Amino acid sequence: MSERIFIGVAWPYANGPLHLGHIAGAYLPADIFARYHRLKGDDVLMVSGSDQHGTPITIRAELESTSPREIASKYHQQFLDCWQKLGISFDLFTTTGTANHAQVTHDMFITLLNKGYIYKGKMLGAYCPGCQRFLPDRYLEGTCPYCGFPKARGDECDECGKPLEPAALENVHCYLCSTPARFEMLEHFFLRLSAFQDRLKAWIKEQSQWRRHVLSTTWKFLDEGLKDRAITRDINWGVTVPQPGFEQKRIYVWFEAVIGYLSASKEWAKLRGDDTAWQAFWQGDCKSFYFVGKDNIFFHTLIWPAMLMGCGGLSLPYDVPANEFLTIEGRRLSTSRNWAVWLPDYLERYDPDPVRYALAASMPETADSDFTWYKFVHRNNDELVATYGNLAHRVLSFTYRNFTGVVPSPGELDEQSQALLCKAETTLDEVDRALHRCSFREAMRHAMSLAQETNRYLDVQSPWKVIKETPDAAAKSTYIALSVLSALKTVLYPFIPFSSEKLHTLLGFTGNVREAGWKFEPPRPGQKIRQPQPLFVKLDDSIIEQETSRIGCVSY
Ligand code: MF3
Ligand code: ZN
Repeated sequence: MSERIFIGVAWPYANGPLHLGHIAGAYLPADIFARYHRLKGDDVLMVSGSDQHGTPITIRAELESTSPREIASKYHQQFLDCWQKLGISFDLFTTTGTANHAQVTHDMFITLLNKGYIYKGKMLGAYCPGCQRFLPDRYLEGTCPYCGFPKARGDECDECGKPLEPAALENVHCYLCSTPARFEMLEHFFLRLSAFQDRLKAWIKEQSQWRRHVLSTTWKFLDEGLKDRAITRDINWGVTVPQPGFEQKRIYVWFEAVIGYLSASKEWAKLRGDDTAWQAFWQGDCKSFYFVGKDNIFFHTLIWPAMLMGCGGLSLPYDVPANEFLTIEGRRLSTSRNWAVWLPDYLERYDPDPVRYALAASMPETADSDFTWYKFVHRNNDELVATYGNLAHRVLSFTYRNFTGVVPSPGELDEQSQALLCKAETTLDEVDRALHRCSFREAMRHAMSLAQETNRYLDVQSPWKVIKETPDAAAKSTYIALSVLSALKTVLYPFIPFSSEKLHTLLGFTGNVREAGWKFEPPRPGQKIRQPQPLFVKLDDSIIEQETSRIGCVSY
């Protein structure tokens, strides 16, 4: 029975390059999930886009003496290039800078306003007499009331990590020109989040499929009690406020960014020439999954659902399989300290599948996990190359040389061969079940265990040894190994699609894995295979040292 699956992926700020933390946190699991569902024949819509608004963008623009628009469009292009090279298969990757997004945001704002879920209120705002403008929290600097750090920002202290209110800082001044800031009461719109407390509680109670850490983070906010939040700001970069008197203000970036899921779906529908196609994913029988990093949980399990409940008639998230953090060589990733492995930098020098593999194999699903170049090289050499790539290459080359490049007929099967075919079938089911519940590491373990089993099978059957004396036996085990390779290309496709497509072709199949679908299809005896080529390259141990010393030195 086919399913309809909406996949929303966190919108990256277009203020800097992507790094492996982004990939492990959200983009890779989302892509694995999308590819898996597409193979299953499900109806998938996967969208995201670059988040072009907010202080991350304006601060970057000021640092580089350019405009927020320039910054946003530069990194948007870079993101698109990365998705293509890494194989992150969005149905649409748009931006929050489109007219469509502004329209959908306005519509949602007005609906919530009319229903009383958005109201006008007052909030303290900071003004810089030096720059003659209002300052967002991030633009204020002062002494942290908790730890005394003199360069704490208005939103949080980088030293002790405590979230802050600008007015709580001592000696609060403008981060750009150091003039002391002045506070004034200003008119803003607020989202009446408190009105959703009970409904959200009741709804979250039913979400037994959510990961434990996602539930506990969500409950922490619920237990503290949800407070109304200001959703407009005194800035001039962002989506305008569709109300008179607010021409100088903009909608707060987080309020409009999450609306991107809906606006992107509508844009996707228009682009494919069927304006109503988005409805099946938002109003019909559909499960929506939101892949985000753990710092985004609150916005996806509480704020966005509240906004959807407030509007009515739109599907709530089915799951928010947020990942925990990826650390790099044992240290917390930090873009400001340049402690990261930058994706464009990686993609200039290596293939996409090895990093997809390494990150999927130790994905931070239930706890933080660590990326090291040592592990990367060893996962590539000992697992991708040694367990899978060599297996494929040996079997294909053997077929090419000894059976004139044609899949041999198996003849009668012995018990061990039967058992391996059986395991291939079971593996398809096991990987299927694990991926269905977003257990990516487990799914990958099942897939790789099939490759290991096949190596053991070939050690026992040794077609290369018996080919002279008992060619029938060699034909049988070669056929079996080729068959299992066909299963492997399917179960590994969501994780490492490039090598799967390659293997599909090498095995002599036409079309691609995507069209072949989620099924175990052994090659036909008589099927012509292609000239063998290795699926992966072995990496030299020396790159461990080289790459490790590059961290913190290469900036993007
Ligand atoms: N741009 C935000 C970040 O990188 C994430 C936004 S997710 C969204 O943290 F759904 F709100 F867009
Ligand atoms: Zn100033």
